[in-house]
Amino acid sequence: MQTDLESDLELLKEQGLNALKSCQTTEQLHFVKAQYLGKKGELKKVLSSLVSMPAELKSRVGKLANEVQDCLLLAFNEQETCLKTSTTNTKLKSSVDISVPGRSFPLGNIHPLNETRDVIIAVLEKLGFVKVVGPEIEHDFYNFEALNIPKSHPSRDMQDTFYIDNDVMLRTHTSPVQIRTMLLKKNPPLKIMSFGRVYRRDDDITHSPMFHQIEGLFIDENVSLADLKGSLETLARNIFSSDTKIRMRPSYFPFTEPSIEVDVSCFLCDSSSRACRICKSTGWIEILGAGMVDPEVFRACGYDSERYQGFAFGLGVERIAMLRYGVTDIRLFYENDLRFLRQF
Ligand code: FA5
Repeated sequence: MQTDLESDLELLKEQGLNALKSCQTTEQLHFVKAQYLGKKGELKKVLSSLVSMPAELKSRVGKLANEVQDCLLLAFNEQETCLKTSTTNTKLKSSVDISVPGRSFPLGNIHPLNETRDVIIAVLEKLGFVKVVGPEIEHDFYNFEALNIPKSHPSRDMQDTFYIDNDVMLRTHTSPVQIRTMLLKKNPPLKIMSFGRVYRRDDDITHSPMFHQIEGLFIDENVSLADLKGSLETLARNIFSSDTKIRMRPSYFPFTEPSIEVDVSCFLCDSSSRACRICKSTGWIEILGAGMVDPEVFRACGYDSERYQGFAFGLGVERIAMLRYGVTDIRLFYENDLRFLRQF
């Protein structure tokens, strides 16, 4: 049989739980806790009447009173956590709108000239060419003389030069790196490439006073024009789209014999256009010069030209980047205009 005291405890538990759960603030919660569980609270009042009870009943009611106390304490803790969380959320909501999308940091882009250089170098690496470097300020011997271009030779006019003094200049092409490498390493096979800045007195939409070239040189026994043609075709296939047409035509360089130039079909017009400013209405844009190393160059570098043959090529990185991306003015590459650069 349940005593009145036990019924009072059950009732007190129910009322206490309801009161705790309906609290909206931590102040209210602490007030209700004191009301039920404090020193002068409801539970203490019930327990004070235990004193006059018989021992057996005292222990039963005492156990129930402890259970009620634990239950109310648990409810207090839960409600306190709940109120703290909702207070934090309310504070956050009033100061920060957490539904606003995050602020993203803009990523930088690879410059189109660097991207083009990397693509070309990756193809040449697969073909077995090894990177070497040479100086941008060059001596006449490496830039011209050893390349079979003596002082009074008319072909010096092909590359209008920035001179520093009579014999020193800003290199006009990467071909002097061929000479420097051949003089250092006299036992072919030799398969090298060199990337870098070169300088000429040129300035229009397809010519810049400073531009970049990549040079390739392969020397061994039994190297032929067919090896050069195969290498250049592989290179062109890998850097242009499949519908790009390529042509090779005879040309002249004092350091190669025979010499060729490679043109790529114009990306802006279809050669029927009568006013294309990029290809001057020829339908073709020249991207590189190449040829079989002239025996005079072998002689200048102390190579046996009877035993060894070689091919060399020098390509303009800007021209290739213009063709790859449809850029109609070479100067755009150097202006650092973000509206241009962000397109790549
Ligand atoms: C040469 O510079 C030779 N040294 C290439 C060579 C190397 C031939 C090895 C044979 C053997 P050329 O002057 O044609 O050749 O220049 C090579 C490429 O550089 C051109 O096809 C063109 O793509 C690019 N080029 C030339 N002048 C400029 C310029 N001012 N601005 C941008 N690109 C240029």
